[in-house]
Amino acid sequence: MGEKLVIQGGRRLEGELSVQGSKNSALPILAAAVVTGGSSIIKNCPRLTDVDAASRILEYLGCKVARTGDTLIVDSSGICRSDIPEKLMHEMRSSIVFLGAILARFGNAVVSTPGGCEIGLRPINIHLSALEALGAEITELHGRLYCSCGNGLRGAKITLSFPSVGATENIMLAAVTAKGTTTIINAAREPEIVDLACFLNGCGAKIKGSGEGIITIEGVSGLNNYEHTVIPDRIVASTYMTAAAVTGGRVTLNNIITEHLNPVLSIYEKAGCTIKTSGESLEIKAPCRLGSIGAVRTMPYPGFPTDSQAAAMVMASTAQGTSVIIENIFENRFKHVGELVRMGAKIMVENIVAVVEGVPRLHGVETEAADLRGGAALVLAGLAAEGETTVRGLHHIDRGCQSFENNLRLLGAEIKRC
Ligand code: EPZ
Repeated sequence: MGEKLVIQGGRRLEGELSVQGSKNSALPILAAAVVTGGSSIIKNCPRLTDVDAASRILEYLGCKVARTGDTLIVDSSGICRSDIPEKLMHEMRSSIVFLGAILARFGNAVVSTPGGCEIGLRPINIHLSALEALGAEITELHGRLYCSCGNGLRGAKITLSFPSVGATENIMLAAVTAKGTTTIINAAREPEIVDLACFLNGCGAKIKGSGEGIITIEGVSGLNNYEHTVIPDRIVASTYMTAAAVTGGRVTLNNIITEHLNPVLSIYEKAGCTIKTSGESLEIKAPCRLGSIGAVRTMPYPGFPTDSQAAAMVMASTAQGTSVIIENIFENRFKHVGELVRMGAKIMVENIVAVVEGVPRLHGVETEAADLRGGAALVLAGLAAEGETTVRGLHHIDRGCQSFENNLRLLGAEIKRC
């Protein structure tokens, strides 16, 4: 039956915690190590199964990957393959970001279409049309993508139909050593994009405008070695904030970039929490019972992040009053609703809209995670619930939350993996 987390709910969380490095920053930076052809030292790299999967892809390609503590050292000088087998591609949906990097390094690549995942179909049409604009010829056959760009990639002006995070990253990785200048219009503005640009510029790339809607990339002849510290994980930080919020707790988070949390701060304050920030720390103090979080719409950064939607729903589930959550980014990201309803939540879903009528208490039941952020949200619900909650499907949670139960136990939660 696999591992499960067993949680005795109803305890206030209190204490301090350092937040892990960002999964969604580390993954594209690991792909970028393919382009440099040298040694990349990546510090604050979280220990996650998604990072392990990316490391396996790097090793398959011929890179040497060594971890010492929170630092990953990737030597891509010995890279000797430009294909990624189906099995490795399907271990992690975002492995499509290796396509741009391999094309930049080799001028050809064979990868699999990543396929959908629990939260949606996850098409890659924006990625592929952008890479074709840079000169790649891409043929799809039986789920494999055969890509080549005979005379090398060349800079282009690319307008994205949607500010896709992955597509923006793929273009950046392909364009850094392309001939000429690339302009990305309607680029994603997430902090993880800025962190990737910071890493690439450290390696000698010439990228301007990351974090804004228009990014320009002037192709350079090659990249060099670099040492980079990955930014803190803003989604995991908001997960721990929610753990404090739903247990009436008081928690201080260290090693964060408070500016990256601006898009979520308002729902905690609206729900009655007090938040104090100073430097790289944030303290959240929750009331005995939360108020409604109002209407929350998930949007591309700097809007409310879709990755924090499930945790917000847990806040709304036990709040005094009714809240509305609109999921604008992924078409199937309400899979945690059924389990929350089994715990006593009152939630009505109509397409992309969830109406949540807060109840005084949830009660513990046996639950199953269906995806990473929804699974983490079920743990949060268990912390707030009366009685015992179990959460199975931990492989989803282990993809993105490093030492999740240990950190929650540090804050006073009664939780164990068995
Ligand atoms: C990244 O996914 C993150 N993953 C996601 O985090 C995050 O939810 C998402 O950005 C939005 O912020 C990583 O960074 C590894 P998108 P990505 O391309 O790049 C549609 C987590 O839990 N789209 O911005 O796949 C797509 O279907 C994960 O850590 C196309 O239609 O997100 C979706 O509806 C989950 N065609 C929307 O755009 C394309 O070619 C946003 O996708 C690409 C995307």
